[in-house]
Amino acid sequence: MTIAFFDTKEYDKTSFEACGGTRGLTFKFFETKLNEDTAALAHGCDAVCVFVNDTVNAAVIDRLYESGVKLIALRSAGYNNVDVQHAFGKIHVVHVPAYSPYAVAEHAMALLLTSVRRIHKAYNRTKEFNFSLSGLTGFDLHEKTVGVIGAGKIGRIFTDICKGFGMRVLVYDRMPRDDGLTYVSLDMLFSQSDVISLHCPLTEETRHMINADAIDRMKKGVVLLNTSRGALIDAEALLDGIKARKIGAACLDVYEEEADVFFEDRSGHIMDDDLLARLISMPNVIVTSHQAFLTAEALHNIAETTVNNIVTFFQDGVCENELCYRCGHIEHCKKERRERCF
Ligand code: NAI
Repeated sequence: MTIAFFDTKEYDKTSFEACGGTRGLTFKFFETKLNEDTAALAHGCDAVCVFVNDTVNAAVIDRLYESGVKLIALRSAGYNNVDVQHAFGKIHVVHVPAYSPYAVAEHAMALLLTSVRRIHKAYNRTKEFNFSLSGLTGFDLHEKTVGVIGAGKIGRIFTDICKGFGMRVLVYDRMPRDDGLTYVSLDMLFSQSDVISLHCPLTEETRHMINADAIDRMKKGVVLLNTSRGALIDAEALLDGIKARKIGAACLDVYEEEADVFFEDRSGHIMDDDLLARLISMPNVIVTSHQAFLTAEALHNIAETTVNNIVTFFQDGVCENELCYRCGHIEHCKKERRERCF
């Protein structure tokens, strides 16, 4: 079984070689991202393994299909970059539903603490023996209200962490559960929250859910956290909100146009994306480069689940982590009955 890996980094190679070598899989690692021009590299491979910024649209799927690829194995939870509907009937798609929700939730809290206690400023100052505290006044999280959008695996862990800090937690989810959390309308969450953290997937419904209108309805000084997907936020509207002093701070691990810049060393290059450059220039904006997942535990779990997905799919023909357009809800395929839709 030969698997073509796209957008591979050293840490991917290390974790996959450690757990795939013994399972009869051969890995071909490509640094380039998957797109229409690079799909031909997968010729003769049984599967491709892709990450969040690989392009897996209809044209790419057709090329992979023509090359004999039978499986697209996402080494991520999110699959908004894959045209699952177009893949139906051609190529099966599997993903890693959870590898370490703690990694992402803890990163969100790390960003929040960094921002509200000005750790990023203090770190740079003391490196230069500047021990002044001027401009470093933060605020207590205790008794502040945090609004969590999306109470899935990551969102729920984040709410637990926030409760540990003595915060009041409000939750908005498309499908509220009977789990003791305080579910409210999006309107109420916007108007009452001092901190808003995004943990829902990117879908047509959630694209730009944080836009000018939503920002208008938020509290002055609100801190926005996005460790989910960049396009949940309309970045132009965010910049306007920051310039208008409406947004108190923004912590972004993801950015709508991140595919061309994140994960690479761009120091020494001219930054073409004016919007990103302007956001990064703001004293109250912290950007990390889609790093929330990056812990040793998460990398190990990603590699193990992906290898299991591939081996199980080719051995048994079904895989519990298959994404299936036919079944209505993409993640709940007939696989549970060990049947296959195509
Ligand atoms: P999950 O599937 O467990 O939870 C998502 C929650 O969002 C569910 O409760 C769902 O009902 C809710 N939801 C769906 N549509 C909604 C809507 N329109 N409005 C409000 N809520 C809605 O997913 P999980 O594992 O918690 O991951 C959340 C997101 O985190 C992923 O979709 C992915 O985009 C992102 N992520 C980011 C990573 C990073 O490194 N920055 C790593 C892993 C995931």
